[in-house]
Amino acid sequence: MDGSHTSAFAIDLRSDTVTRPTAGMRAAMAAAEVGDDVYGDDPTVNRLQAIAAERFGFESALFFPSGTQSNLAALMAHCGRGDEFLVGQEAHTYKYEQGGAAVLGSIQPQPLENEPDGGIALPRIAAAIKPDDYHFARTRLLALENTIGGRVLPMGYQREVTAFVHSRGLATHLDGARIFNAIVKLNVDERTGVAGFDSVSICLSKGLGAPAGTVLVGSRDFIAAARRWRKALGGGMRQAGVLAAAGLYALQNHVQRLADDHANAEYLAAGLRAVGLSVVAPQTNILYVDIPVPKIPGLKSHLQGRGINATVSPRTRLVTHLDVPHPKIATALQAFREFDWADSIG
Ligand SMILES: Cc1ncc(COP(=O)(O)O)c(C=O)c1O
Repeated sequence: MDGSHTSAFAIDLRSDTVTRPTAGMRAAMAAAEVGDDVYGDDPTVNRLQAIAAERFGFESALFFPSGTQSNLAALMAHCGRGDEFLVGQEAHTYKYEQGGAAVLGSIQPQPLENEPDGGIALPRIAAAIKPDDYHFARTRLLALENTIGGRVLPMGYQREVTAFVHSRGLATHLDGARIFNAIVKLNVDERTGVAGFDSVSICLSKGLGAPAGTVLVGSRDFIAAARRWRKALGGGMRQAGVLAAAGLYALQNHVQRLADDHANAEYLAAGLRAVGLSVVAPQTNILYVDIPVPKIPGLKSHLQGRGINATVSPRTRLVTHLDVPHPKIATALQAFREFDWADSIG
């Protein structure tokens, strides 16, 4: 059984985290060789870590249960108590992780406005780096995200910003929960895609379709520090090879197909525009469509009645992924077309 038909909703556009492991992935999980990973004994985890480090061009890697924990351990490995990290207002590490860096890491966030393309302007960063003065927290780190809200950070910007903050003595961390979407979109290899960053958190459970798991890559010393924090944060897993096998399978089989998700997002965007809706052009697998406020409750139940799950809000986010191939997108579009939009768009 591949378990992919057990949801009440045939079509789930809320997130790319909703994918169920495929039959092939489940077979790989069932066959995984395992050991106690807290002792470093799990051969499948070790293989995943070695492959991730090699592909992304880092000395070392560490497997985590989630992206939130990987990001937090990374921030704690880069920054000590009373240090500060610069981060975008829209960044997951700032906005959607309950302020874990501050709450659990004693690290002060300095949130900065994101530009429309998802980056943070260099002058804004320069102005936020605190002088060496005991009134201030020590600014240690810049954390960026790629993709961010489905947008791909421009490579030129990435090179420029990482070189600039390095010249000011800061380290760089990338929340690469969806880094493969960026890499596939830009048609670059992994090393090029993350060049300039000292550490990268790579999720296997988003577009890649694994049920759980994130790999953090960095230098040997950095990963040794992150390993200590992972244990304190409760992320030391035992026979985690069962999960790592899913991640390895995803790396082998689900990277290039992300281009299908991107094409499906464009197809969905074009169809929604044809209905008369205002859509932000998607760069990867995430699109935003404006829904007139009076239509929100009706649209939500209209979609639900047709087996479609979506988080409907004034700016609705729709996400394409492994479990919504082209025919399902066509079905979703048909449902949008059949909705009574009268008096709302024109
Ligand atoms: C950009 C980004 N970073 C980090 C995370 C956290 O990952 P997790 O849900 O595995 O903790 C998410 C989750 O959706 C995310 O979208």
